[in-house]
Amino acid sequence: MTARKPITLVRIDASARSEGSFSRHLADATEMAWQEAHPEGVVVHRDLALEPIPHIHKLTIQGYYTPAAAMTPELRAATALSDSLIAEIKGAHTILISSPIYNFSLPSSLKAWIDQIVRIGHTFAYEDGEFSGLVVGPRAVLALSYGADGYQGPLARMDHLRPYLSALLSFVGIVDVQVLSVEATTGDSATAQAALDAATAQARTLFNAAPTTHAAQIRIAGELA
Ligand SMILES: Cc1cc2nc3c(=O)[nH]c(=O)nc-3n(C[C@H](O)[C@H](O)[C@H](O)COP(=O)(O)O)c2cc1C
Repeated sequence: MTARKPITLVRIDASARSEGSFSRHLADATEMAWQEAHPEGVVVHRDLALEPIPHIHKLTIQGYYTPAAAMTPELRAATALSDSLIAEIKGAHTILISSPIYNFSLPSSLKAWIDQIVRIGHTFAYEDGEFSGLVVGPRAVLALSYGADGYQGPLARMDHLRPYLSALLSFVGIVDVQVLSVEATTGDSATAQAALDAATAQARTLFNAAPTTHAAQIRIAGELA
């Protein structure tokens, strides 16, 4: 008899700060809510500040484009981390990514992780001129922090974090993406705390409702189009 695989939350933290991080605080609340909803679940934690993911290099890229039958031991070694990171997310029930905005984009530590998991034939396919995502099943939660205020308004065009991460997840097949965000973290502490409290309260409700099905998501997208 084979043991049943536990359901998994894969948590990726990208803030360079371990203490006093707004995005990590939001991720803590999200993780706690997930564990309450899934007491038998297992959390896999990747702290990109404590254990940075290496950048891909020329052999990694060569391995990405080499058919399985032609892989050499050297290419297998160069793509081994990518293999395991991809297996981690493909087997996940939920993927939680916490990240600050740095210079209007994502931290390079998170981009290094992305370059390891976005891989042809593994997380996306390209056939007859069309891309399709191969990570079907997991849902995702983004826990984001912004030092400034106004990303829902005048600064929207400068936000290359949330739209990028949402588009990227959708590209690999993850369409059920919920976003928690806290803005004005570098402003006065009362305003920042109020924003954090509101987002934390939202995190606590995330896993109460039945997850949105892919069909429902597609219908919503169709209605918006
Ligand atoms: C290197 C760096 C670049 C930053 N760039 C921006 C930025 O472009 N826009 C912004 O709103 N805040 C910016 N901030 C502020 C952070 O987004 C803010 O402090 C956030 O709360 C950090 O996340 P954390 O609290 O999870 O560590 C920057 C902070 C650092 C350290």
